[in-house]
Amino acid sequence: MSDEIFLKLEGIRKSFGGVHALQGVDLEIRKGEVHCLAGENGCGKSTLIKAISGVHEPDEGKIWIDGEEVKNMKPMDAINRGIQVIYQDFAVFPNLSVAENIALNGELKSKAKFVNWKSVRKIALEAMDQIGANIDPDIKLERLSVANKQMVAICRAIINDAKLLILDEPTTALTAREVEKLWDIIRSLKAKGIAIMIVNHKLDEIYQIADRLTILRNGKYISSGDIHEYDQVRFTQDMTGHDVVETKYTPAKSDEEVLRVEKLGRKGAFSGVSFTLNKGDVLGITGLLGSGRGEIGEALFGLAPADEGEIFLNGKKIEINSVNDAMKHEIGYVPEDRLTQGLFMERSILDNTIAASIKKYMKRGKLDGAGMEGDTEHWVKEIGIKTPSIKPPVRTLSGGNAQKVVIAKWLNTHPKLFILDGPTVGVDVGAKSEIHTILHDLAGKGIGIIIISDDLVELVKNCNKIVIMKDGKCSGTIDNSIDEVSLGRLLIGAGGEANE
Ligand SMILES: Nc1ncnc2c1ncn2[C@@H]1O[C@H](COP(=O)(O)OP(=O)(O)O)[C@@H](O)[C@H]1O
Ligand SMILES: [Mg+2]
Repeated sequence: MSDEIFLKLEGIRKSFGGVHALQGVDLEIRKGEVHCLAGENGCGKSTLIKAISGVHEPDEGKIWIDGEEVKNMKPMDAINRGIQVIYQDFAVFPNLSVAENIALNGELKSKAKFVNWKSVRKIALEAMDQIGANIDPDIKLERLSVANKQMVAICRAIINDAKLLILDEPTTALTAREVEKLWDIIRSLKAKGIAIMIVNHKLDEIYQIADRLTILRNGKYISSGDIHEYDQVRFTQDMTGHDVVETKYTPAKSDEEVLRVEKLGRKGAFSGVSFTLNKGDVLGITGLLGSGRGEIGEALFGLAPADEGEIFLNGKKIEINSVNDAMKHEIGYVPEDRLTQGLFMERSILDNTIAASIKKYMKRGKLDGAGMEGDTEHWVKEIGIKTPSIKPPVRTLSGGNAQKVVIAKWLNTHPKLFILDGPTVGVDVGAKSEIHTILHDLAGKGIGIIIISDDLVELVKNCNKIVIMKDGKCSGTIDNSIDEVSLGRLLIGAGGEANE
């Protein structure tokens, strides 16, 4: 990283009608640094990125790129000056191949009469080689995982001679392992002198990768500095404007059993898992990657049913051999990869909210539109989804609000048991504690809540029982008198070496 500044913004303002998205934002990105842009949902991060990339012209303010002031910047101006943005949806073409997605743009710009397919493939392979990606160039994009789609988007950006690569919330839909891989790629780009700006609001992730940090709040610039000038307290204060007071979740004692699992197992995944969840309990399941923590959720929801053991829901033995069975028994499930599995991003909040309970609205062959709208509006209000109406596609919502839509979808089925895998991955501090409050309230109403997570702080603060998984076996259930550091030691100590 040098002290030379690549991008400088001063006093950027942008309003959409009455919404003042940016109210005087300053920003400095140095050459070759990794800069994190943080702030709660709706504070203007994406709008700022669009101002930098020429998508939105600011109402006021100045932009300098490489020492030169740029006025009336259009997207092509930004690209020509080396600014490349990877948006949350990656803007890739699902029907084109990996190679076409990476290289076609450049090939079309070359003004040659015919597309040179050989060079498309060659350019793509070279770009992938540069970042150590190993993806079949001929496979269609729609068949790739989220992480691989993102890599294709990064390859496309770097062959366009990026000097500044901007990634909007790149870790939201990634697993912990995929995040590691992304950081490796970013480190290699940084080593080539490319500046990187990442939108992220998880301080532990930011610590792993960022050199410097800028925080926005409600469209305003709050602070900026070296990453080491921020600890959890200052970070939270700057993001939210107040301290987040968090106490541990302790429900009223109850012997009323909601869920009991006895010696549950699935060959090759996990075995001998037993636990009891009583009314009021928020039960956590944790373990290292590959410990089987996620597979228990998949078994209880019938995605990958158990082949041994017993499940009792509200005192009654039940069989779960399919998702249909699980839904029949009123079990709800939020998958870890909600952006690809839990939500239809292009569909409205309404469509998503009623997606798991559509049968309820069928009346003599017709859909009860008013009923669907009424229920959706109820949940939007009840769990505080921030949106002007129930019509916008979920794609336009922030991570925290999108996650609330998945929760609304399952609440609308009135579940007896609600399993959430990574419920607050990619969700910022404020919305995170709102989601936890929702879950505590549901537990208090007698709905069984299971949180599967590797976020130790989240577990210790929000679950009153924690099941620890190790190599596919349950190595114990503990209460939340433990702190996150000791819990981490238990996972590793109990788990031997991580299965990387
Ligand atoms: N095209 C738009 N039209 C109207 N309002 C918008 C538009 N884009 C963003 N906003 C509003 O501007 C504010 C900032 O949004 P955004 O930049 O997406 O926040 P962030 O990325 O930090 O979550 C929000 O209140 C959002 O609803
Ligand atoms: Mg955004």
